[in-house]
Amino acid sequence: MSKLRLGVNIDHVATVRNARGDAYPDPVRAAEVALAAGADGITAHLREDRRHISDADIDALAAITRTKRRPLNLEMAVTTEMEVIALAHLPHAACLVPERREEVTTEGGLDVVRGQAAIAPLVGRLAAAGIRVSCFIDADPVQVVASKSAGAQVVELHTGAYCEAVRAGSADAARLLEGLKAAAAQAAALGLEVHAGHGIDYGTVKPIAAIPELMELNIGHFLIGEAIFIGLGPAIQRMRQLMDEARGKAGGA
Ligand code: PXP
Repeated sequence: MSKLRLGVNIDHVATVRNARGDAYPDPVRAAEVALAAGADGITAHLREDRRHISDADIDALAAITRTKRRPLNLEMAVTTEMEVIALAHLPHAACLVPERREEVTTEGGLDVVRGQAAIAPLVGRLAAAGIRVSCFIDADPVQVVASKSAGAQVVELHTGAYCEAVRAGSADAARLLEGLKAAAAQAAALGLEVHAGHGIDYGTVKPIAAIPELMELNIGHFLIGEAIFIGLGPAIQRMRQLMDEARGKAGGA
């Protein structure tokens, strides 16, 4: 199996910083620690309401990831404002996500079927600028096909429902995992690169990481929370180790 990359989402370092309206803790410093600890890339979501990551953070993250030659994955809503920002910064990747102001987090996947008329041209413009575009979708065969039709190179499968079901001890977990596996196989067969993310912790990472078509996981909230107890570097290293174990490797390839 190919190596599974780990993208670390540092949004919630900014959440803590913003609780005091000050400059500490700095998500850029967290990105540097994450990369030093073995993260393959940095993910950040610039939300319309700027509740965590700010425009200045994106400027700084784009600069340090470029200097360190590591990928920046910009999570963005399908809006003109975010398109302008993406084209100004040219991140390695952009992940198109649904966004509603009242939601606590990205609560479901992007509806690429209904949004096709806006999403396909946006994917085309971002891709023309050299940005790898992914659609963050639920594990739904119709959304996989629509992402391919929209021209996306990548789909990121929303693992939130599966992770919640595992934590709740729900019988639905097995069915949801089968859905993720089927969507990953379908997407790969269509020539899409497959990523996954949302809600992943130490208890849920292994069954997800064992899905052979997956090339990348994006993990944020749990790692930033765990950093409070054991530090960000060790939390990332532990996650990396569990991912490698799930892939049947002691130390990754
Ligand atoms: N992938 C996407 C597309 C997301 O929107 C998020 C949350 O911002 C994540 C991954 C990471 O989710 P979590 O913070 O729950 O690990």
